[in-house]
Amino acid sequence: MDQITESKIIGVATRRVDGPLKVSGAAMYASDHHFPGLLYAWPVCATIAKGSIANLDSAQAEKMTGVVAVYHRANIGKLYRVPPAAGMSLILDEKRPPFEDDEIRYYGQYVAVVVANTVEQARAAAESVKVTYNRDKPDANSKLLGSPLTTDKPEEKSKRGDTATALKSAKVKVDEVYTTPVETHNPIELHASVAVYDGQKFTLYETSQAVVNHRDVLAQMLGVPPEQVQVITRFLGSGFGGKLWPWPQSALAAACARNLNRPVKLVVSRQMMFQSVGHRPAIEQHIQLAAEPDGRLTAVQQDYVNHTSMLDDYDEGCGEITPFIYSTQNLLVTGGLARRNVGNPTAMRGPGAVPGLFALESAMDELAVSLKMDPVQFRLKNEPEMDESLNIPFSSRHMKECLTVGAEKFGWANRTPQIGSMKKDGVTLGWGVAACSWLAARSETQASVELRQDGSARVACGTQDIGGGTYTVLAQIVSHETGIPVSKINVVLGDSALPSGPISGGSWVTASVTPAVLEAAQKASQSLLLVAAKSDGSPFKGKKPEDLELADGMVRLKGQAQGAVPMAEVLQIAKINSVSGQGKSEGTLEDSKPKYSFHSYGAQFVEIGWQPEIARLRINRVVTVIDAGRIMNPRPARNQIEGAVVMGIGMALFEETMYDSRSGAPINNNLADYVMAVNADTPQIDVTFLDYPDYNLNALGVRGVGEIGLAGIAAAIPSAVYHATGVRVRNLPVRIEDLL
Ligand code: MOS
Repeated sequence: MDQITESKIIGVATRRVDGPLKVSGAAMYASDHHFPGLLYAWPVCATIAKGSIANLDSAQAEKMTGVVAVYHRANIGKLYRVPPAAGMSLILDEKRPPFEDDEIRYYGQYVAVVVANTVEQARAAAESVKVTYNRDKPDANSKLLGSPLTTDKPEEKSKRGDTATALKSAKVKVDEVYTTPVETHNPIELHASVAVYDGQKFTLYETSQAVVNHRDVLAQMLGVPPEQVQVITRFLGSGFGGKLWPWPQSALAAACARNLNRPVKLVVSRQMMFQSVGHRPAIEQHIQLAAEPDGRLTAVQQDYVNHTSMLDDYDEGCGEITPFIYSTQNLLVTGGLARRNVGNPTAMRGPGAVPGLFALESAMDELAVSLKMDPVQFRLKNEPEMDESLNIPFSSRHMKECLTVGAEKFGWANRTPQIGSMKKDGVTLGWGVAACSWLAARSETQASVELRQDGSARVACGTQDIGGGTYTVLAQIVSHETGIPVSKINVVLGDSALPSGPISGGSWVTASVTPAVLEAAQKASQSLLLVAAKSDGSPFKGKKPEDLELADGMVRLKGQAQGAVPMAEVLQIAKINSVSGQGKSEGTLEDSKPKYSFHSYGAQFVEIGWQPEIARLRINRVVTVIDAGRIMNPRPARNQIEGAVVMGIGMALFEETMYDSRSGAPINNNLADYVMAVNADTPQIDVTFLDYPDYNLNALGVRGVGEIGLAGIAAAIPSAVYHATGVRVRNLPVRIEDLL
């Protein structure tokens, strides 16, 4: 497809088309779905983290008011395992179907589920199910590096040159361990499943970032063909990765609906959100860097271990960015997994890159300090010419400009490097910087576009809007191609019965849907021009379709505004209700020999204020410069970066899921004790998009902005803290106690 450089709507700040539905409460989230005869399910959760069920007695619960059924291993019915993931399909977080055996592997594992007429009755009965356990001591060892791994030795992820020798002969070095704790996804919308079964077909209203995969996984688990499962997610109260793949509550709700032949709703409680729907794992990273006294990097080594669950292998992939972000002849990245008695970890916004860059960029700051070099200059000095890990060119990389523009906007030239040397109004200031990157990709996508005789258009794709603005972006693409205003474009998403669309993950929805929707809109336009050229009564009858065009919502002779006829009129004259077109796009993800290294880049500049007298640490301001290709819609794009920066403040200063080492239970399992950044913690955030189109990725040159804004923030903050206090915090989150 040709490069598209000009547009009246792409890149134009456009209000969210779904905004009114959301703010008026009309948007239907999964748990908003109600049906006649709806029953409520409440799981019974294991209160040990390791051992087995000795006895499960549901007799009392079954007799309680409103209780319809109590299901457990003996009576839930058949739930199958899912074959290993192939590409982007059949992915799930827990390969073991719920209740498959009596072994307990993590605290909160579902052991039974109560179904009742009301949610209160179900919950009360669930608390009355008596479970006795054979208890073992859970493995909650928080030391990860050096622990036994799932593999004989750490896996080599990327390697070039001779890192060991280069480190040994290094003139200037950093050799440190950085740790990040478990972080729990806390979207305000709880995970929920409403399952409807009609004796043959399942209709599942889910909190899913991937409806098509969810359908295929549930069809496997339920043992029915995919045609008998439909998954619907019209709106998501976000997910941050926690809703990418199905979790056990979905299979439980569907199995209950099947057994009872009635609709069943299961909403996971906030407490269960900390137990059984994923988290970012605990990670330890050993970073070794070496440089010449002039600041040229000579070796980079990163060895990480993250925890995983007893049955599933979740690899955080912390070394994803390390191999290409800087130029160095010698590089080694290894990774390993250590089993612990925890629920399975999963992707959390910027998986791998975000914790990986915390460690790498913190170490880069430490090395800059040792070199007595400015940390911006140090990074500029090590800018690579190409992706040195794959020996291919960067598709579009403007890292240097991110750093220089950010430095300019921030006023970095005024920084004095001595610790505690900058003060304002009696407050010690600390300035820190970090570079960042995130992958850019496309995944296979299909879409359809329909042009209708009422002048409206409909665009449909089996993707979903996690809250980032996908509804609006699809309308913009169709509007760009047809000239139909966004207000007349009906975007239909969030249904697995639609043409198969991408997951809302990896920041790749926009890049993936763009080619498919453009193609579908072009084909629909061609069909319309054919109607104009062939239909009796059409002012264009007898013209060649290729001499016509659809522009500004009107059919006309190419380039001639005069004599243009509205699309609606052309269809009405022809007595045709609508014309349609299908489009598809290939993925880049499975390309084993990519021609280009596709990534987004950014630079994060942070100012903190430190008042030791009252132990007060605040983030004053953040300047973030993002190179994420062409920006489709600056409004939601800015929101994505701002939200990510706030999440990064939470990661740097607050977020940590703590486990009781005796029981293996997450103990700060609620929104009061699990501290997240809130409005009061939010600084001035200055977002700049460089806006260079990446035409190698798609015709509009768009990449994606979902995750890049978080990357680097959690490194820039501790570096700013060091600049103010002289204390280098390598174990997140930064605590006030660390600084006193
Ligand atoms: Mo994102 S962690 O790929 O939902």
